[in-house]
Amino acid sequence: MNHMNDTTSIEAFIRGLPKAELHIHIEGSLEPELMFELAKRNDIALPFATVEEVRNAYAFNDLQSFLDAYYQGAAVLLHEQDFYELAFAYLEKAASQNVYHTEIFFDPQTHTARGVAFETVLRGLRRALDEAERTWGMSSELILCFLRHLSAEAAMATLKEALPFRGQIAAVGLDSSEMGHPPSRFRRVFDEACKQGFRTVAHAGEEGPPAYIWEALTDLHVSRIDHGVRCLEDPALVDHLRERQIPLTVCPLSNVKLRVFDRLEDHNLKKLLDAGLCATVNSDDPAYFGGYIEENFLGVQKALNLERADLHGLARNAFEASFLTADAKAKLLVELDEYVVSASVTTMS
Ligand code: ADE
Ligand code: ZN
Repeated sequence: MNHMNDTTSIEAFIRGLPKAELHIHIEGSLEPELMFELAKRNDIALPFATVEEVRNAYAFNDLQSFLDAYYQGAAVLLHEQDFYELAFAYLEKAASQNVYHTEIFFDPQTHTARGVAFETVLRGLRRALDEAERTWGMSSELILCFLRHLSAEAAMATLKEALPFRGQIAAVGLDSSEMGHPPSRFRRVFDEACKQGFRTVAHAGEEGPPAYIWEALTDLHVSRIDHGVRCLEDPALVDHLRERQIPLTVCPLSNVKLRVFDRLEDHNLKKLLDAGLCATVNSDDPAYFGGYIEENFLGVQKALNLERADLHGLARNAFEASFLTADAKAKLLVELDEYVVSASVTTMS
């Protein structure tokens, strides 16, 4: 009998699990400590006196109340070095949690609106990504998100700004305030992005109805749905997502913090898996929601009583759903499966 009890062993299993993260907003990984440091360095006033005050202010009623804090926090980011430090801090944390591959959202419009050049943002992020690859062998991609509370014309202008950097951006996405901003408004922009060779993803069905998920699929030609938890309200949509194995990048702690579900115990992740959907676990905005990918895995395992097979399936789904090449996916999936076999020998005996 192993000396670890059952809880400890499943926690150890989660910590060691090779992971891919597919839904992380880099601006949402800005921890209050770095926010203060950058505010001081850049001479930007913050409406908080201490890190503790910032953390205490992170009690949200819905997506919009979070977004107000998130855009305010991002205002401390001005220089290439700031974006580098932001991204490197996330990557270091992700590496410590066995993230082998990550696909990172960034919101250029949040920065260009404040006079920060698109290229400044991209260069800072890329420098961190390259260093993570060299240091930990971690692979990564960037996904440019359009802010849906702004106009389709503004999104198109941002796409044009991105074109010279086409090779450095894997996909475009759609984020920010969902209600009242249906995906169909951005059809032309996404058509153009597809024409230019970008893959597409979109936040849909986080707060918005299943109709928004349908629109993301039919109008924006997305390869994945970000969140998508409200799909279960529409059986025909569930069939469609299952038959095509369209991935959902689910963010459990985020959904509780933003009141999509009252408690983690009420989260529908297990139902999504039981419906045969390709669901994955991700952190969304870890500095604001109380945890990175590992804390999300640990939280749902406990709240929903997930078994090793569920956790293995979630990790597999993330590698399958990633934008890695078929060869890279196959290699990482072998590594994942070997880990699961060896972990069950060492922690279940
Ligand atoms: N931007 C950052 N986090 C987001 C979320 N959870 N939904 C929509 N937009 C976001
Ligand atoms: Zn998100």
